[in-house]
Amino acid sequence: MSYVITIDGPAGAGKSSAAKDAARELGIKYLDTGAIYRAIALILAKSEITPDNDEYLREALREITIVLRDNKVLVNDFDVSGEIRTPEVDELASLYSAIPAVREALLGLQQEQKNYGSIIAEGRDVGSVVFPDAKVKFFITATPEVRAKRRYDERIAKGKEANYDEILRAMRERDINDSIRKTAPLSIPEGAIYLDTSDMTEKEAVNFIVNHVREVIPENEAE
Ligand code: DC
Repeated sequence: MSYVITIDGPAGAGKSSAAKDAARELGIKYLDTGAIYRAIALILAKSEITPDNDEYLREALREITIVLRDNKVLVNDFDVSGEIRTPEVDELASLYSAIPAVREALLGLQQEQKNYGSIIAEGRDVGSVVFPDAKVKFFITATPEVRAKRRYDERIAKGKEANYDEILRAMRERDINDSIRKTAPLSIPEGAIYLDTSDMTEKEAVNFIVNHVREVIPENEAE
């Protein structure tokens, strides 16, 4: 029986790495819904369609094709997986993802991923809106300072420039945007297991998730 696991939480909480590693250990697929929002934001901004231009926005959303393949995001057959990981796209994604038409347009694409086998989906509303019937739900968070430090370390490790104070400021701003928006604000889904990773290593967080999933879904049921 295939199943869905969801991980929600704010930016930099360690959702992506935890979801990726847990998916590998559990032998299931990883669905990064943030990447889909990033891709659509990038393409809309490039087309100079501003978030307030409802008419053009809806038309563009009908014409854009997004495909997920081997953990890559293709927009109209073009691989944007690298281009979507910049501070500019962080902000664009936060802006465009607050628009109801954008969320509606991306809902089906996310939900359809469960038809291809068991998945662990990670995002901002995957446990509440996209997969309300998920078998196990997690909400992962950490203090803004810890999350900003992780982002900072990530950028430095990639050889990129980084400024901790600026990352922390942007992170707080994004937290507010993502929490106060009217459509699908960041919230703890009903029934979700709350995990604060501030004092945990990545490995500890992954172990917690994997052990919990194995308790709820014994391996012989997860074929
Ligand atoms: O997880 P991330 O940083 O890649 O997400 C980018 C943006 O997309 C973030 O500002 C929130 C938004 N997002 C969302 O609204 N719903 C999701 N399921 C995933 C991401």
